[in-house]
Amino acid sequence: MSPDSSTTIEDNPLGEGLDQLPPPSSVLVIFGATGDLARRKLLPALYNLAHDGALPERFAFVGVARSELTDEEYRQDVREAITKFSRRPADPTVLDAFLENVGYVTGGFEEDDAYVALKPRLDALDLDAGQALNRAFYLSTAPRFFGPIVEQLGAHGLSDREESDVRVVIEKPFGTTKAEAHQLNRRVLDVLREEQVFRIDHYLGKETVQNLLALRFANGLFEPIWNRNHIASVQITAGESVGLEGRAGYYDTAGALRDLVQNHLLQLLCHLAMEPPTDFTADDLRTEKVKILRAINPIDPDRIEEVAVRGRYGPGAIAGEEVPGYLEEPDVPADSVTETFVALRLEVDTWRWAGVPFYIRTGKRVSRKLTEIAVTLKPVPHMAFQGSAVEPNQIVFSIQPDEHVSIKMAAKVPGSGMHLRPVTLDFSYGTAFLSTSPEAYERLITDALRGDATLFTRADEVEAQWAVMDPIMQGWARSSAPPDEYPAGSDGPKTQRRILMPGDRWRAI
Ligand code: BG6
Repeated sequence: MSPDSSTTIEDNPLGEGLDQLPPPSSVLVIFGATGDLARRKLLPALYNLAHDGALPERFAFVGVARSELTDEEYRQDVREAITKFSRRPADPTVLDAFLENVGYVTGGFEEDDAYVALKPRLDALDLDAGQALNRAFYLSTAPRFFGPIVEQLGAHGLSDREESDVRVVIEKPFGTTKAEAHQLNRRVLDVLREEQVFRIDHYLGKETVQNLLALRFANGLFEPIWNRNHIASVQITAGESVGLEGRAGYYDTAGALRDLVQNHLLQLLCHLAMEPPTDFTADDLRTEKVKILRAINPIDPDRIEEVAVRGRYGPGAIAGEEVPGYLEEPDVPADSVTETFVALRLEVDTWRWAGVPFYIRTGKRVSRKLTEIAVTLKPVPHMAFQGSAVEPNQIVFSIQPDEHVSIKMAAKVPGSGMHLRPVTLDFSYGTAFLSTSPEAYERLITDALRGDATLFTRADEVEAQWAVMDPIMQGWARSSAPPDEYPAGSDGPKTQRRILMPGDRWRAI
């Protein structure tokens, strides 16, 4: 291991802001290099990092996949993907320079050939660079290959070396139950040390998700009220207007709970609910999140109806355009019972949160794309202003598409008398910092190259997430009822009201 492998507060961006030196010289190997995620997200992220001068000084990228391609043919693929999907228009000079350092290796992920071919390629890159480059292997493949690839890296002597750091980034889903996640952790950790493993959750790379921690822990304003004495409820929503986007094969086996709740939404909940860590180091932060996950009261599968709703979109219209229902989508089996919408009421059994409902909701084909966390405060104990309909304060963290924080409060309507009405205090990211946030993958790739695991999920954390999901899946498996239908373009099934506590209501999407 090289000396730069441990994370300190100096090189941890959560502690120090974003102005950092580029990561150490590295080669990045992406398994699944011709796949959808690589084309849509990873390659454009690499290009944008190149554009910003944020890639390592010495950097090479090698794609691995089954298609028989030459280096030149793959470069052409990369060029097309970047041109199509980059958040900025591709600058030919930057793109050409980036492509010079791109190579390709053909091979099946479970077969020896790919690894036999990869090793001399990587050694040659070291020779070229005149130094042992750090190596990061990014597994952007179907999940069934995660275990075999790590084992093959080990078997071919690619999983560790003296001269530089070796890291492995693993995409989601990491298992589909707690038992599977545990099994996969064992396979992976038989070959690698935990500090080499970067389980990705791209929500953690979003600026506004990290900003939740900044707002909570760097301002005296919030922490005194951040508990059951002042907070009445928390509502986390991740709505999407898109449907399956050609991913029926994956989605129908996953469903909304596994696809979005287990990972992204539980991460949001943890950021909102965790205790302040002593330090912003990867381990302190993740330890606090694990405490919250373990404090979530396990749902009783026999009483699932009281706290969970699952839905499935039927035909409807999104932005004025007619769209088919889930069962009419290409490649979805006619007898599918997969949910495209989930609403849950969770309880976090800690001193701070006992009795506060945490409502969580996600759905495909709802009216619009919206990710937000709304914290509703308790009403004031005595209202002196008679006749004014005053609602409790609400703090809303908007994660996307708008990145802002707003506080709803009551103010006096100008003029005679004392009439109140709600107004909002707004902080908008774009306006305050005059910049657009980088894509989550840009941030996460550089963190992985730097060896900073703060924004990645630890082994015990991913298992604790699945432990929250398992009883819900068991409860649903016991029932033969299909998910509740909602028209595409609506805010989800009407039955979602069922799980609300008296007086609570869902926010509009
Ligand atoms: C992915 C899910 O993890 O997150 C997708 O697999 C979902 O189904 C996506 O669409 C949402 O990500 P974002 O960043 O667009 O909110």
